[in-house]
Amino acid sequence: MFGSLQALPADPILGLLAKYREDTNPQKIDLGVGVYKDESGHTAILDCVKKAEQHRLETEDTKVYIGPTGSPLFNQTMSELIFGASHPVLLSNRARTVSAPGGTGALRVAGEFINNVKSGATIWVSNPTWANHTGLFEAAGLEVKTYPYYDYENKCLDFDGMLAQLKQLSSDDVVLLHACCHNPSGMDLSQEQWQQVVEVAKSVGFLPVIDMAYQGFGDGLDADAYGLRLMAESVDELVICSSCSKNFGLYRERIGACTVIAASASAADVANSVLLSTVRCIYSMPPAHGAAIVETILSSEELTAQWHQELAEMRDRINGNRKLIVDKLVENGVTRDFSFITRQKGMFSFLGITPEQVQQLQDEYSIYMVGSSRMSIAGIANSNVDYLAASIAKVL
Ligand code: LMR
Repeated sequence: MFGSLQALPADPILGLLAKYREDTNPQKIDLGVGVYKDESGHTAILDCVKKAEQHRLETEDTKVYIGPTGSPLFNQTMSELIFGASHPVLLSNRARTVSAPGGTGALRVAGEFINNVKSGATIWVSNPTWANHTGLFEAAGLEVKTYPYYDYENKCLDFDGMLAQLKQLSSDDVVLLHACCHNPSGMDLSQEQWQQVVEVAKSVGFLPVIDMAYQGFGDGLDADAYGLRLMAESVDELVICSSCSKNFGLYRERIGACTVIAASASAADVANSVLLSTVRCIYSMPPAHGAAIVETILSSEELTAQWHQELAEMRDRINGNRKLIVDKLVENGVTRDFSFITRQKGMFSFLGITPEQVQQLQDEYSIYMVGSSRMSIAGIANSNVDYLAASIAKVL
């Protein structure tokens, strides 16, 4: 049976990691996968996570099944983190959250849930979007189409194009929005632009799905949730996929959440039953360890304060790197304007060079970034930025 299989290419993002690990060049730089790195290139475990794990080790007394919903305490603390504790949607009891295996697991659950609601529905994603969005929504049975988002030439949002496309949709459509730190472009909607998108969502009646994989990496935990919170108080129905991979540094623990908001508390219960049946048919129930760490942190004032501080350090380092690389390119005689990098948010920016130049950086300088020229800014460090800027200058 397997004889008819055709080999598939490696994943465009994860495949880079394998190549990078095999590269023996001591000057190699990993700007590929979206993982935070410190100045020494290491992805350390946060101190607040270590403390929460210690607490868990001392207090956990069973490994019994936890159920498709996951830990109720995790779901509650995550909802409060996403919405803010006194958000109207929580007060009116219209949101239901299930733990999920990472942001990807949450997105797949959302896709399958939507396909249960409306088989083969069309989900509109930004052009460009995270490379895995298309594959996972198609695998869930949805049709994927794109709306304009990034203006590659002018290195800014094509907001008029986006809005014009969204206005043409119908109440049968689904629209995926990035809450913050747009992956891959780093170009986020301003608060005024979010207000306009929310107005269009209300008047057209499409179902918004918001992917929030980087809360806290843009401007801060609350600021990054501005659009999501506004949408949640403005529309009847909304799906949110969130992740603890980046902001808690829990990448391999696979913990995130899928939240469904419905028009009333009873409609939310019905939606929740469909969500749970969806989960049961995919992976039955989510992993518990990452959820236990997050709920321990979020239910302790002391650990939460420490987490806020560690998150701010990651955010500040990335923002510092944005300025650093722009300055170094100028120092290396690059006349093309790269200042847009400092106006973008989160883990990524497009450098805006050709796929051939990206390949040349990889082959000749051992510098790894996604073919679209998406750079993970966290991979830049004081120790490698001169080599990076000089190499980019050469391929330009
Ligand atoms: C990325 O975009 O690099 C991350 O979200 C990691 C992944 O799974 O692709």
